[in-house]
Amino acid sequence: MQTTAVELAPSLLAADFSAFGDAARRCLAAGVTWLHIDVMDGHFVPNLTFGPPLVNALRNREPDAVLDVHLMVAEPEKWVKPFRDAGADALTIHAEATVHLHRTLQQIRATGALCGVAINPATPISVLGHVGDLLDIVLVMTVNPGFGGQKFIPAAAEKVAQLAQWRDENGFDFRISVDGGVDANNIKGLVMDGASILVAGSSVFGHADGIPGGLDALTMALER
Ligand code: DX5
Ligand code: ZN
Repeated sequence: MQTTAVELAPSLLAADFSAFGDAARRCLAAGVTWLHIDVMDGHFVPNLTFGPPLVNALRNREPDAVLDVHLMVAEPEKWVKPFRDAGADALTIHAEATVHLHRTLQQIRATGALCGVAINPATPISVLGHVGDLLDIVLVMTVNPGFGGQKFIPAAAEKVAQLAQWRDENGFDFRISVDGGVDANNIKGLVMDGASILVAGSSVFGHADGIPGGLDALTMALER
């Protein structure tokens, strides 16, 4: 039975950067609580985006938002403290980006942030085999990380149901997040498979009726 509330987490990567704070506020005004912030370092992924000061500026402006920071960076252990100090509520690192996954997850837990791990489309869920008890969030990438607006990869989404089954069989209590190409056509199936955090960039910020229109379309798809 699905008892966990479903969170839509707009990915601010798709926002108008010249009006960043207003874009975040419009999402919150439309009823979401989570804001997804994509940190890219030009090494782990071929793109550069935000650092701790951006997270801190959002933290100060929106004290009630849940700032969901997705670290697409090499050696994420170096960035846990700076982003937590800046005000991140959830820190999600990539399993592929750290040599000492268990240690880095312990490091996140020690800060008091929600502890997340992301897996790329080609990464099997078995990489999480010995860290399930440390996790609050597993983020399933359904595009290759680095850019917004890419096409959803259905084969990667198959891991959502596998993860839900593995979690339930072992008594873990992490939430499953899906990130990449989430739209009104696939969101319901992802939730039925066990996802409860749905990250969406283009389908929210690129909607013809603006941010509220994008969020409404996703909410209506969930209610169908
Ligand atoms: C990709 C990012 C995603 C992405 C989502 O590397 O992690 O959060 O921006 O954007 P859409 O929904 O456009 O795929
Ligand atoms: Zn992301």
